[in-house]
Amino acid sequence: MTNEQNLAQIGVVGLAVMGSNLARNFASRGHTVAVYNRSAGKTEAFMAAFGETGNFISSETIEEFVASLERPRKAIIMVQAGAATDAVINQLADAMEEGDVIIDGGNALFTDTIRREKEMALRGRHFVGAGISGGEEGALNGPSIMPGGPVESWESLGPLLESIAAKVDGVPCVTHIGPDGAGHFVKMVHNGIEYADMQVIGEAYQLLRFGAGLEPAEIADIFAEWNKGDLDSYLIEITAEVLRQVDAETGKPLVDVILDAAGQKGTGRWTVKEALDLGIPTTGIGEAVFARALSSSLDQRAAAQGNLPTGALKTFEDLGISREEFIEDVRRALYASKLVAYAQGFDEIQAGSAEHDWDVDPRDLATIWRGGCIIRAKFLNRIREAYDANPELPSLLLDPYFNGELKDLIDSWRRIVIVATQLGLPAPVFTSSLAYYDSLRAERLPAAIIQGQRDFFGAHTYRRIDKEGSFHTLWSADRSEIAVES
Ligand code: 6PG
Repeated sequence: MTNEQNLAQIGVVGLAVMGSNLARNFASRGHTVAVYNRSAGKTEAFMAAFGETGNFISSETIEEFVASLERPRKAIIMVQAGAATDAVINQLADAMEEGDVIIDGGNALFTDTIRREKEMALRGRHFVGAGISGGEEGALNGPSIMPGGPVESWESLGPLLESIAAKVDGVPCVTHIGPDGAGHFVKMVHNGIEYADMQVIGEAYQLLRFGAGLEPAEIADIFAEWNKGDLDSYLIEITAEVLRQVDAETGKPLVDVILDAAGQKGTGRWTVKEALDLGIPTTGIGEAVFARALSSSLDQRAAAQGNLPTGALKTFEDLGISREEFIEDVRRALYASKLVAYAQGFDEIQAGSAEHDWDVDPRDLATIWRGGCIIRAKFLNRIREAYDANPELPSLLLDPYFNGELKDLIDSWRRIVIVATQLGLPAPVFTSSLAYYDSLRAERLPAAIIQGQRDFFGAHTYRRIDKEGSFHTLWSADRSEIAVES
């Protein structure tokens, strides 16, 4: 039975680990938290395990759950993205009243969130798609949170989310990202950057392990050292831990007994699909997604092993460089490739914001990604400074600080791309990121040839560098050029 003074400020629907940890986080901040799970057994198990750790109100029905929330009611859905989410949204909307807030804390596709927000608005409900990053540990102790939706809901929801978010320099890693699907869009790109970040770390490992012949424990020490400098980040830190882990069963480094086939729930793929539609070259993220797909094509890989000519490979000794020089070159190539991935991710966010009229501020993202989320890294402070100095930056790579960094990185980056090729070690993000970088800075690109080809076979016309207008060459006649009204 609930009475006025015992209503919950916030509710969580879905008590798997993420939802359960989020509920516990809210309770640890002194909030009364309503909890509900479709299978009542999960709710009972939650209350048995954590009921005494805070003020929880458990319910067996959605209606009872909604009734236990103070107005304007706020309920966070933490269930599997997709149909399950739609079902819960409608159940909540039916039980809720005008001005109540439904928050989807899963990794929903932002276009679903845009649709849901419109539907809920017609029913007088606020709908917030919120990206929540940081995994189970983040949900419990402090995630980075990226809520979209109507700004009106932020007024009552904001202080609650700020209370549970990670804090960096006392600043909560949460802010209102923008209307409707803006939050889930930004979380999607966060995950795309995460994929690229994880892949470049993997490529660095590959070069140090199978190029320089270092052991996992040695590479762990190198990563731990890198984690004290420019590459200071959660992903570098945990990679060192993964590399230190010894498999209890075999006594081998765990990394050697893990099947090298990467999974992916889909957010990285969405990032690339959207980038293609927006015309933003997220090459690093794209190569990272394809690398996961290729790694999982086990039958094709098995058929290819030993059956594809390698050409004249070199050994590490052939290169005539010291391991120390090589390790530093790898660090610099990793830093440069990571920088490209972030630059491309921010380009996509700004393009998506313009496309959907969200007015997303890159400074906000750099600020709330400094802590709590999977891509949290020291260099996000620099990214924030870059956009503070110039919110209209055409590319992160052109920020004076990062431009200066690239001067120190570029020679190592080129050497590592060459060496990876000579050693026959795959480094798709290192390599494609350098190709992107050289394309961005090139005075002339092969696109001139492409325009000529397109005009030759399809009369698709081309523009000239020396005068305005569109032109077509009469390829199958006298090959004279005519101006074409565009
Ligand atoms: C986060 C993570 C999380 C992600 C899982 C699995 O920000 O906490 O990005 O949201 O869904 O880590 O992602 P993949 O299966 O796509 O690697």
